[in-house]
Amino acid sequence: MKTAIIFYSFSGNTKRACLFLKDKLYSKNIAADLIELKPEKEETVFFKQSLQALLRHKVDLKKVNYDLSGYEFVIFASPVWAFTIAPALRSYLEKASNLENKKVVCFLTYHSGIGSGKALKEIENILRESQNHILFSKNLSGSKTKDNNYLEESFKSLFEILTS
Ligand SMILES: Cc1cc2nc3c(=O)[nH]c(=O)nc-3n(C[C@H](O)[C@H](O)[C@H](O)COP(=O)(O)O)c2cc1C
Repeated sequence: MKTAIIFYSFSGNTKRACLFLKDKLYSKNIAADLIELKPEKEETVFFKQSLQALLRHKVDLKKVNYDLSGYEFVIFASPVWAFTIAPALRSYLEKASNLENKKVVCFLTYHSGIGSGKALKEIENILRESQNHILFSKNLSGSKTKDNNYLEESFKSLFEILTS
């Protein structure tokens, strides 16, 4: 199953969870391409990042493959920013092509958890618009992504689905 893990991470939590997932999938004979989204001009000031996310602004991304036709299974991940997904992932999803009818997974990492449910619903809705089959979606505590047991437990039902 040709798989991609497409993610944005500013401070490393989401990336850590993606790396864990990639290793886990590999141990189950699923090799995944890890695709990290990088804005051309990355906003680093919290207030401006929040505003960008809140206003659903798009950002230009560094060179990335938008054509997902080669993948059957695509995992999307982002931090929660201002109760929604980060602009980098929103921008990618807007331009992605051949995203229809894939098996997809989405997960977000959060800090307080405020707005994380709303953010998860939003990305689920974006993915459903292209008739994707969402296998698994979840919010993860960003600060716990250093704990492999937490990650193992968080992704447990996904691995059960993939191995059933
Ligand atoms: C600009 C900005 C806005 C954020 N807004 C929220 C929020 O609305 N709710 C929340 O629970 N966490 C929020 N956080 C915390 C991040 O979602 C959390 O730390 C996440 O794990 C960071 O992931 P990363 O290390 O991959 O960048 C925000 C962080 C930033 C930088």
